[in-house]
Amino acid sequence: MEKIVTLTLNPAIDKSTTVNSIVPDKKLRCSVPKFEPGGGGVNVSRAIKKLGGSSTAIYLAGGHSGKYFEHLLFAEGINSCVVEIEEQTRENLIVVDNSSNLQYRFIMPGPEVREHEWQQCLNILEKSSGVEYIVASGSLPNGVPEDFFGRLAAIAKKITAKLVVDTSGEPLRHAINEGLFMIKPNMGELSSLKGVEELHAEDAIRAAKEIINRGGCEMMVVSMGASGASLVSKDIVFNCPSPVVKRRSTVGAGDSMVAGMVLGFLRGLPLREVLQYGIAAGTAATMNTGTELCKKEDVEKLFAYLKGEKVEVLVT
Ligand SMILES: Nc1ncnc2c1ncn2[C@@H]1O[C@H](COP(=O)(O)OP(=O)(O)OP(=O)(O)O)[C@@H](O)[C@H]1O
Ligand SMILES: [Mg+2]
Repeated sequence: MEKIVTLTLNPAIDKSTTVNSIVPDKKLRCSVPKFEPGGGGVNVSRAIKKLGGSSTAIYLAGGHSGKYFEHLLFAEGINSCVVEIEEQTRENLIVVDNSSNLQYRFIMPGPEVREHEWQQCLNILEKSSGVEYIVASGSLPNGVPEDFFGRLAAIAKKITAKLVVDTSGEPLRHAINEGLFMIKPNMGELSSLKGVEELHAEDAIRAAKEIINRGGCEMMVVSMGASGASLVSKDIVFNCPSPVVKRRSTVGAGDSMVAGMVLGFLRGLPLREVLQYGIAAGTAATMNTGTELCKKEDVEKLFAYLKGEKVEVLVT
């Protein structure tokens, strides 16, 4: 196992294509589709690789689509630890309508996962050695209990690995009830953790502090899209705006941000720079079309810019 391990319980093959115009009833002739391995943790592993780091991706995969998924990830040079399941890995469909340039994302529910299958992911981690960071990201498929990330948090403590969870709703609540290293909610996810409709930026910091003070997590990064993000711990609050860039697609911004921050922690960057590197990676992902994640050269330029170094500003 690498020092960084990602965990994806509901991975998907993302199939992207374009059509001239989306209309009902007619046959919609699509362009040659592109197949990519996706899902929260898997995307974090792919972004880490793009940034020059390495990780092991643990994920559930089943059926023919599961085998294809493994092949796609192997082709990208990602170290995999596959937990085989009986049902098929899901396939999502992403279609860009060329007439409007709008993107439609059809997300399938995913397979029903058996108890021994999800339990195996926990067993693998419990028996692992040398893991410093575990990044669990994405939704839970049917059959996986809502407290899965809470159970994972208990195992992370046992093997003294730092757990980062990026998910939403009840699964996220269970993670903080057990206590973990870091969560990265966006404003919507933090609001629902607080049980309110909407939080303002200043209330977000207070909400983050409350969760930290009661032992929910050591660090929280509240991400606010184009407005940037705040990193909150017991003693500090760092705010950092997102650099203004030409936005193409925000798909994968959150996963790229998490990848950047975990690499920043592993490389021993000061906390402020961990946040800046995360924002640089998240923002860099928005500069690419479709499902493409961040490019290293964009991340390094944006990072230097955020640190106040004189660099050629990309696109303002
Ligand atoms: N429109 C944007 N312009 C610049 N940077 C952006 C934009 N959207 C996202 N980012 C960058 O990516 C980070 C994460 O984005 P966001 O807050 O939207 O996370 P998210 O809602 O979890 O995203 P995802 O849908 O990928 O899970 C932001 O903090 C910011 O640095
Ligand atoms: Mg997110």
